[in-house]
Amino acid sequence: MGISKQLPNFSYISLLALSFSFYCTITPTSSTSLQHDFIECIHRNTNVDFPLEKTFFTPARNVSIFSEVLESTAQNLRFLTNSMPKPGFIFTPVHESHVQASIICSKKLRIHLRVRSGGHDYEGLSYVSEIEKPFILLDLSKLRQINVNIKDNNAWVQAGATVGELYYRIAEKSKVHGFPAGLCSSLGIGGHITGGAYGSLMRKFGLAGDNVLDAKIVDANGKLLDRSSMGEDMFWAISGGGGASFGVILAWKIKLVPVSKTVTVFTVTKTLEQDATRILSKWQEVADKLVEELFIRVIFNVAGSLGNKTVTTSYNTLFLGDKDALMKVMKRSFPELGLTRKDCVEMSWIESIVYIAGFPSGTPTNVLLQGKSPFPKINFKAKSDFVKNPIPELGLIGMFKKLLKEDSPTMMWTPYGGMMARISESQIPFPHREGVIFKIQYITVWPDSDKRPIRHIKWIRDLYKFMTPYVSSNPRQAYVNYRDLDLGKNKKNASSNLKNARVWGRQYFKNNFNRLVRIKSKVDPENFFRHEQSIPPLLI
Ligand SMILES: Cc1cc2nc3c(=O)[nH]c(=O)nc-3n(C[C@H](O)[C@H](O)[C@H](O)COP(=O)(O)OP(=O)(O)OC[C@H]3O[C@@H](n4cnc5c(N)ncnc54)[C@H](O)[C@@H]3O)c2cc1C
Ligand SMILES: *[C@@H]1O[C@H](CO)[C@@H](O)[C@H](O)[C@H]1NC(C)=O
Ligand SMILES: *[C@@H]1O[C@H](CO)[C@@H](O)[C@H](O)[C@H]1NC(C)=O
Ligand SMILES: *[C@@H]1O[C@H](CO)[C@@H](O)[C@H](O)[C@H]1NC(C)=O
Repeated sequence: MGISKQLPNFSYISLLALSFSFYCTITPTSSTSLQHDFIECIHRNTNVDFPLEKTFFTPARNVSIFSEVLESTAQNLRFLTNSMPKPGFIFTPVHESHVQASIICSKKLRIHLRVRSGGHDYEGLSYVSEIEKPFILLDLSKLRQINVNIKDNNAWVQAGATVGELYYRIAEKSKVHGFPAGLCSSLGIGGHITGGAYGSLMRKFGLAGDNVLDAKIVDANGKLLDRSSMGEDMFWAISGGGGASFGVILAWKIKLVPVSKTVTVFTVTKTLEQDATRILSKWQEVADKLVEELFIRVIFNVAGSLGNKTVTTSYNTLFLGDKDALMKVMKRSFPELGLTRKDCVEMSWIESIVYIAGFPSGTPTNVLLQGKSPFPKINFKAKSDFVKNPIPELGLIGMFKKLLKEDSPTMMWTPYGGMMARISESQIPFPHREGVIFKIQYITVWPDSDKRPIRHIKWIRDLYKFMTPYVSSNPRQAYVNYRDLDLGKNKKNASSNLKNARVWGRQYFKNNFNRLVRIKSKVDPENFFRHEQSIPPLLI
């Protein structure tokens, strides 16, 4: 080959080499240099020191400690397998200014960042990115202060605190104050409230997102804002528009609500053989119309062994009042359940939190300070639906048949009505209000030893398809806190991602999606805060 032919080749290769080495100097290749640059940058951008040993975790330094921190609050084992991408390092800030510096530095160093409060995200979005590499994890678990002010009827809660800790700190100061957030004690305040957040007080007081007064947030420029400096648009967006789209919430100021000194709980279980279908039909007629002090959810499981399986339906209940009052209400509105006085237990509101969260009876309430749930972690996939007309018996029978085919299926039906129906669809981004009788959550779980996890995901997609005629449509509504990456899915094609976003956007937020997109374009036009289902900025 002649020189003239070699030359272009040669220069092409050296250009490649040059651009490669250039690439290497601006984009750190190992997590160690990545961490090094980040730490230096954090130092330059905050004047509050941080103990490196206790705030930075990399696989290079000690892989077992790194894994321990990564797994600490991650709830879904599906996203912790070896094949799942891992963060380059984990930073657990101990001061609010460290969060500001983190935003400034990850922007400057062009490192994608995920933020985690309680780690309950259904699709692992708070600790795994399957779309960007490398990424780092900003874990807020060390920012968990709670200041309850009974006199002014409010509290400031930092993002890393769990709802269980919040409930405990409220009850410590007053037996007649409470807060309407989630049922599971380990939920992180930071991520939880961003999706609305419901619990057993929702029929009386609405969602946690309906009861927030103020927030502290770090925006895409690393600025610390409160409600008045962020403005009402952004405050609206963060109180239900989903996590990690608008900024990092440092703390919420919440409004306390009154609870009665004595509440009553019960759980009554009916199998298919015990007339479960007929009783469930009746529940669908009354669930959203009962007095607002009464919250009866239904938990479905499969019991028995091969050839002898049945579906169990458990009516898991909180009543704000005493046993006598509850018995009267039940006789009048839902006698089909056959509730007896023996089934009922009177207790304080904080004890009912421990009961509804699923701890064994008699567990002391200070278990809530451990920030844990009573259940072991497992692999799971879940989906949600909203029901506006009672599901006919034929539908229920078909649904039971599907449940009986899966290893470990669960469903939870949550009653609406009451305060939920009185708040307008656009009050906060969470739009599932008047006309909803109940919400369905479908779950399937499997152990690590399962050789074919895809089987379970296929099963739940099939059940979801089967339920189509019985649930809301156009859009088929879904709960953003039950994040589901199946919705509007077409991951491979980036240019149609916006189209896909319109699909899940309407499902989670109905008409509020458009306003969320407008606010996103204003407060984070460069899309710094992004993940598989973050609110997209307008394409101009
Ligand atoms: C076992 C279990 C029980 C549940 N029970 C209920 C229930 O009773 N009621 C209910 O409403 N929901 C419930 N959920 C759903 C729960 O509300 C959501 O998963 C919620 O997002 C969890 O918040 P987190 O902080 O724990 O999760 P994370 O995984 O830490 O965060 C969830 C999302 O929010 C983002 N995020 C986290 N922290 C912040 C922050 N400080 N600022 C901005 N974005 C942030 C994350 O990046 C992620 O996208 C339950 C979930 C599980 C796994
Ligand atoms: C990692 O940390 C654990 C727990 O502190 C310790 O036992 C182990 O020896 C460490 N491993 C290395 C390689 O430093
Ligand atoms: C299974 O069958 C046995 C015998 O008929 C019965 O006693 C038992 O209650 C059944 N279990 C379930 C969960 O239905
Ligand atoms: C991706 O989606 C866009 C818009 O829907 C479409 O025009 C394009 O052909 C798609 N590309 C691929 C590779 O499928």
